[in-house]
Amino acid sequence: TILVLDFGSQYSHLITRRLREFNVYAEMLPCTQKIADLTWKPKGVILSGGPYSVYEDGSPHVDHDVFKLNVPILGICYGMQEIAWINGKGVARGDKREYGPATLNVKDKLCALFADVDHSQVWMSHGDKLHALPTGFNIVATSDNSPYAAVANEDESIYGIQFHPEVTHTTQGRTILKNFAVNICKASTNWTMENFIDTEIARIQKLVGPTAEVIGAVSGGVDSTVGAKIMKEAIGDRFHAIYVDNGVMRKNETEEVYKTLTEGLGINLTVVDASDLFLGRLKGITDPEKKRKIIGNTFIHVFEEEAAKIKPAHGQEIEYLLQGTLYPDVIESISFKGPSQTIKTHHNVGGLLDVMKLKLIEPLRELFKDEVRHLGELLGVPHDLVWRHPFPGPGLAIRVLGEVTPAQVKIAREADAIFIAEIKAAGLYKQISQAFAALLPVKSVGVMGDQRTYEQVIALRAIETVDFMTADWFVFEAAFLKRVASRIVNEVDGVARVTYDITSKPPATVEWE
Ligand code: XMP
Repeated sequence: TILVLDFGSQYSHLITRRLREFNVYAEMLPCTQKIADLTWKPKGVILSGGPYSVYEDGSPHVDHDVFKLNVPILGICYGMQEIAWINGKGVARGDKREYGPATLNVKDKLCALFADVDHSQVWMSHGDKLHALPTGFNIVATSDNSPYAAVANEDESIYGIQFHPEVTHTTQGRTILKNFAVNICKASTNWTMENFIDTEIARIQKLVGPTAEVIGAVSGGVDSTVGAKIMKEAIGDRFHAIYVDNGVMRKNETEEVYKTLTEGLGINLTVVDASDLFLGRLKGITDPEKKRKIIGNTFIHVFEEEAAKIKPAHGQEIEYLLQGTLYPDVIESISFKGPSQTIKTHHNVGGLLDVMKLKLIEPLRELFKDEVRHLGELLGVPHDLVWRHPFPGPGLAIRVLGEVTPAQVKIAREADAIFIAEIKAAGLYKQISQAFAALLPVKSVGVMGDQRTYEQVIALRAIETVDFMTADWFVFEAAFLKRVASRIVNEVDGVARVTYDITSKPPATVEWE
């Protein structure tokens, strides 16, 4: 395992991500981690970048015991400046800030960190730089603006690089990280998803023990399904999945989830139809945040009631709650946020943990979304489910603008099903990150036959995004939009007009409410 100490750079988590691409496992901890408190010995340490200046009061500094571990150390950007600061203090504000691409000139062709790396593009993002060589170090590479783009003390296996090898804009960054982790640190390269499954199942079995029971909510989404499947593999029917139909799910969702999870994946599943309860509580409510709150609270209430009905075979109370927390959420809670560090707690499923006194079990906490998909495929979760677009917890309630009534939900549901079916038929589903139909609470005039009608408007939305923080609308061919619009007005009662949303996020959000 490689230890990544995070100084708060926006790229830090990419370091662990890149290392896993060549099967090296890495764990990220905040830069303030006391080395004496580590329960394992790393094979090597990477000090990340960060937004501070090493010479300023109050800047974060690494525990100097890191140098007593006697393992190779690589400092990236701030991490390099930190190494220099500790070994001679030769760090100052640069005359020019340097952001963006630069060309790397490797001076020391024998340096192990730069094996198979030559003149290539690297990505810079720094204001400070080294103005003197740290004691005991040599220059290994330069760039136009950085005479100390890379320095090394090869006797001690300590390396510093000013640029960011973890971003894809550094064309040979992967090779540099691999040279460090595999060749220099000799970290083992056995982190594969197959091994992950075995070790995770063993970890769950040990944690839960031979008799305890686990409960978890499933939604029909990727994360909860994959989490449920791995629990099933680990403890069989001592894992109880609960699916709550809140009346604002997509077309055929409940039937499909039931079929896939029970017949397909053998998961011990209870389906609760609470549609009437949810829709009853949503009656007359138009404020989106109120809708969200009602759905969240009702969900907790229904889930708790169902959980109480489960009679564990071994007579023990249910002890654990499964949660599909992914690595980005974990990073959010462990990454270094500055000297006045505030640690954010995980968002838990609608606050279930606040009400139910259960211990948390998070089998996906080390994985990124694409890794969860890979895991799902290996565990036999159907391909279509593994690649499903995300669907918000409050479901169609935030896609029916204004009051949520069964009749309005039906219109949104039917229109959505047509849109998604056409997207799949056109082979576009995977290119699009999320797509749906929203029902607007306005009436618009239409002609049907010889009659004028006043019926509602459907807004279609399809976006492409990497992280859902920013998004762009998807460019369909005109013929595709024409086909979808024609099918919706012809097949869905109550719709007279179809529009396509061509706003990016920001300023618009993905959802309409
Ligand atoms: P926005 O609309 O904020 O959406 O741009 C970004 C992503 O978040 C989803 N979303 C939600 N998911 N509960 C959820 O579980 C919510 O209340 C909620 N609101 C938005 C949205 O579908 C998109 O994927």
